[in-house]
Amino acid sequence: MSRIFITGSTGGLGRAAAGVLIGEGHDVVLHARTRERAAALRDLAPDAAGVVIGDLSSAAETQDLAGQVNQIGRMDAVIHNAGVYLEPSRATTAEGHAKTLAVNTLAPYLLTALIDRPDRLIYLSSGLHHAGAGSLPDIDWTRRSWNAAQAYAESKLHVTALALTLARTWPGVLSNAVDPGWVPTSMGGPAATDDLEMGYLTQTWLAVSNDAAATLSGGYWYHRQRQAPAAQARDPAFQDQLMDRLAALTGVPLF
Ligand SMILES: NC(=O)c1ccc[n+]([C@@H]2O[C@H](COP(=O)([O-])OP(=O)(O)OC[C@H]3O[C@@H](n4cnc5c(N)ncnc54)[C@H](OP(=O)(O)O)[C@@H]3O)[C@@H](O)[C@H]2O)c1
Repeated sequence: MSRIFITGSTGGLGRAAAGVLIGEGHDVVLHARTRERAAALRDLAPDAAGVVIGDLSSAAETQDLAGQVNQIGRMDAVIHNAGVYLEPSRATTAEGHAKTLAVNTLAPYLLTALIDRPDRLIYLSSGLHHAGAGSLPDIDWTRRSWNAAQAYAESKLHVTALALTLARTWPGVLSNAVDPGWVPTSMGGPAATDDLEMGYLTQTWLAVSNDAAATLSGGYWYHRQRQAPAAQARDPAFQDQLMDRLAALTGVPLF
């Protein structure tokens, strides 16, 4: 049995993945944005290994969250699942960042840097990451007019590149990115055309399975099939520049 931390487990894919893993007997650490939102975990919490609280749009709360996870113990796997989609504005965070960048890019980066290194890392990407090139000159949206869809695409390219960077630089860790498809959660909406179950079974499989395919690193997965990510996500020069920018923006070096 494994110990797995899942960010954003109050709803959607994160909650579904948590339910499956708890049902299989794994020790799952759940996460809610606030104490109030933790009420949504009332049914899962009694069978979970813990509930940690923190708003990922806040760097301070994200750093505290990493401490809460480390207090519980070393995780075997972390599923970086929490995310926001079409934010109506830049929605500047307490630290002055665009909220989409803070939640979707900076938080998984910070948690990766600050949580005791697990054996497996899984990052929720999106097929939309293919449209995310070109962010580096204005990664935090301080010069461009706000474009919610572009900001989301860029953030998903960032986490895909993060997953592949770690696969390249941390040989003892299995690090992968997952496109769950377009699935009917509160983010995906009721018109979503992909199967919800396939949307979460890839990350649960990568987190705990000893299947040969699930113990590969550096993959970009869709419905348990490896696919080609955007060229930039695989480009070591882009990866290095991105890691430098994220270290500068957070003040926390990963390497
Ligand atoms: N659904 C899709 O079609 C689709 C497609 C491609 C990729 N994805 C990716 O899959 C992942 C999960 O998406 P989903 O569809 O399950 O979304 P969802 O139903 O909207 O759930 C998102 C989860 O993230 C949490 N979250 C959001 N902002 C947070 C913050 N500031 N601090 C802490 N937690 C926060 C939410 O908590 P609250 O409930 O408190 O807000 C919720 O638990 C995301 O990374 C998304 O980009 C989804």
